[in-house]
Amino acid sequence: MIKSFSKYIVIMAAALLLAAPQAVQAKELTGELEIFSWWAGDEGPALAALIDIYKKQNPGVEVINATVTGGSGVNAKAVLKTRMLGGEPPDSFQVHAGQELIGTWVKADRMEDLTPLFKEQGWMDVFPEGLIKLIGTDKGIWSVPVNVHRSNVMWYIPANLAKWGVAVPKTWDEFFAIAPKLKEQGVLPLALAQNWTANHLWESVALASLGADNWDALWNGTLAFDSPEGIKAWEMFGKVLEYTNADASSLSWQQATDMVIDGRAAFNIMGDWAAGYMYTTKKMTPGKDFGWVASPGTSGEFLFLADSFGLPLGSPHRDNAIAWLKILGSKEGSDAFNPIKGSISARTDSDLSKYNDYLKSAAADFGKDRVVGSLAHGVAANETFMGGFASVMEMFLKTRNPQAAAKACQQLAKKSRIGE
Ligand code: GAL
Repeated sequence: MIKSFSKYIVIMAAALLLAAPQAVQAKELTGELEIFSWWAGDEGPALAALIDIYKKQNPGVEVINATVTGGSGVNAKAVLKTRMLGGEPPDSFQVHAGQELIGTWVKADRMEDLTPLFKEQGWMDVFPEGLIKLIGTDKGIWSVPVNVHRSNVMWYIPANLAKWGVAVPKTWDEFFAIAPKLKEQGVLPLALAQNWTANHLWESVALASLGADNWDALWNGTLAFDSPEGIKAWEMFGKVLEYTNADASSLSWQQATDMVIDGRAAFNIMGDWAAGYMYTTKKMTPGKDFGWVASPGTSGEFLFLADSFGLPLGSPHRDNAIAWLKILGSKEGSDAFNPIKGSISARTDSDLSKYNDYLKSAAADFGKDRVVGSLAHGVAANETFMGGFASVMEMFLKTRNPQAAAKACQQLAKKSRIGE
């Protein structure tokens, strides 16, 4: 009896082994996949390249590309919040690596742990350790990074600077020195757009004023926002604002870039999605038609951010979403997306021959610069702080009071538990 039973087990095990290849064969996916992001309009082509790959691999899935317009996700994030809290999550959504993900959605226990996917796909070895830390906690890994963007870049048109007889400023003092010369010629020194771009400009100015160590100290809670250093950063920001356009709040970031392209303004400080815009949408050649430099006073520093996509708990089409995440993390997906987007790959093995000269230089800088996290794009602080900071900025744009802004930031840091 025992003998025949063990014979039975051996036969069953052999049968299972034979059946196994069939069992692991991927089943054809069907139904929908809703991808939620703010990459609409001019920001759409890079996302479209990823969706193309997905559709080829999964012809049975209907992809719903749900976008909410508005740079840096100003509108999309509000819609996402309503949907998540209302129990209607999209299948997968865009979120910045860092505190925007961890301090918001992971903390609220709304995300699925992707550690098994990272292991299965071999991603633990291809994403930089520092980046995996930013999307992870001791309980898991919570999103798949698609890129690395640089925030502290100043853009210009070389031929225009030559015409106006000014050199690219390396420091804010150099900028203040050439600004009158530009104004005399009817040229705006620095183009600015709607309020989130003021937050964006603030972080470049604050980094220059504080230095990288103090910048990090703000976010780990060891330097107060209303310290003399913190107040000085706001003072410098106020001075820089004097050289920007009065109609900024009604412009999109692309419109501010356009002012530089058409020679109404000399410079703009924007993340390198502006390089994507000039290269992909405007068909300009990096290094020839447009130039770039680290924003004044920040050379050797790389103010970084990364877009990523996560899998919310309750994703209605989970299998389809996982297939999407696999493409985002793949070398093929990354090298299709980033050259169009104006970002570098988050993977360490990307094929740089596919990237233009701006991106090659960004990749080189990322490898050697001091890397610090962006506030305006989710790395440094959670949504509570970011939302409050936007209000502090609105107040500052009206009142231009550095002490009051610094004090309000410090209160906000306490409330949002910065550094804890
Ligand atoms: C950032 C995002 C970029 C780009 C930019 C402008 O927050 O990380 O990928 O979309 O906003 O909308």
